[in-house]
Amino acid sequence: MLNIQKPKRYSAVKGDILYFTGDPRCEESTAWHHHPDGILLLEEGRVCFAGPASECPVTQESIATWYDYTGHLIMPGFVDTHIHPPQLSVIASNSTELLHWLDTYTFPAEGQFSDTTVCEEAATFFFDETLKNGTTTSLAMATVHAQSATALFREAERRNLRFITGKTLMDTHAPDFLTDTPKSAFDESLALIEAWHGRGRLGYAVTPRFAVTSTREQLEVAGALLGQAEGLHLHTHLSENHGEIETVKQMFPEAKNYLDVYDRFGLVGERSLFAHAIHLSDAEYERLAMSGAAISFCPSSNLFLGSGLFRMEKAQAHRIPLGMGSDVGGGTSLSPFHTMAEGFKVCQLCRTPFTATTAFYLATLGGARSLGLAASIGSFEVGKEADFVVIDPNATPMAAHRNERAETLEERLFILMILGDDRFIKATHIMGEPSYTRPA
Ligand code: GUN
Ligand code: ZN
Repeated sequence: MLNIQKPKRYSAVKGDILYFTGDPRCEESTAWHHHPDGILLLEEGRVCFAGPASECPVTQESIATWYDYTGHLIMPGFVDTHIHPPQLSVIASNSTELLHWLDTYTFPAEGQFSDTTVCEEAATFFFDETLKNGTTTSLAMATVHAQSATALFREAERRNLRFITGKTLMDTHAPDFLTDTPKSAFDESLALIEAWHGRGRLGYAVTPRFAVTSTREQLEVAGALLGQAEGLHLHTHLSENHGEIETVKQMFPEAKNYLDVYDRFGLVGERSLFAHAIHLSDAEYERLAMSGAAISFCPSSNLFLGSGLFRMEKAQAHRIPLGMGSDVGGGTSLSPFHTMAEGFKVCQLCRTPFTATTAFYLATLGGARSLGLAASIGSFEVGKEADFVVIDPNATPMAAHRNERAETLEERLFILMILGDDRFIKATHIMGEPSYTRPA
């Protein structure tokens, strides 16, 4: 008799499964799905079921690979909506404020990226460290050098990551060794777009650093670049620091406000993401809301550089898409838990409630939505790409001690975001496959 066996097609992940399908700030009871004795079932790196183990729709025989993470929280991988990979070497550099910090530490460090070897080593270190912290997708600002974006794309592709970056555009108010021209900015960005945008899981972001470092001619180039392919992103900084805002006013007296500088060149739209956006007028909140553009909330950076307190209640009232950003090296940690904890403290100072469920939503689905990637990542809805993180909520004696007294999911998540760090990340999977496993 012929013994024809059905091929085993699935991988199954066992654990405490949690993901968001809505924003807890607006859809309180239906925003998240929590299956303490859950199964995440995957086929070819995509989710085909996430729910109670008792409801798993396929037989044991059809499961080729089991990952038993019982006692661990399984969540969609974290999304860092604003980070500078070339700045890992200047994290924790003491400065009074942004513009001094840029001139003293950041620009010299970025100057090193004219060397391709520096770019490649930095890209490897960047992804090693972000995966170790559970971050599976980021929107990253490369340096002005095309090779720094190329090195990041190459390394992201090698690891099969969903990832967005772009060569930074800067043609004024920066050292000579770090400037391009409107023409070279266009030519080099276009070549990178043609080489990388939409290739596998990669996307390109047109990246004027901020209004201070671009002339009108270069901002015009940025607008023209956005028309060169479908689905390009726009990534920049907005209204982070008072000195920066004053300089922008002097450089662009014709603009109604800081956001309007970008708007005049067609840079404010659904695929735009503005980092910081701390000191905004009501008109700017309204324009952001109307355009569908997103903000990256970067609390550890905002506190570290003394930039100011992000107005969560304003962004919320205007329903502006929001994600969390580490902004390393201005930010102080690659751990999304640290970013969430600092976000909580910023909101405390503004007397705005900030729940742990909101924080974890922003660090996963909220981030994916703000990058226009929610059809692919950010939750465990069927068909989505299975980038996920495995979290040990009791990784330290202190957390275990505190968790003994925790009763609700909100309380457990709150403990995790306040006490958590990279020690709590047991594993990170990309398209279902383990990409990082914490050494025993
Ligand atoms: N604004 C312009 N460049 C930068 C940068 O590198 N970091 C931060 N935090 N803000 C900026
Ligand atoms: Zn930044």
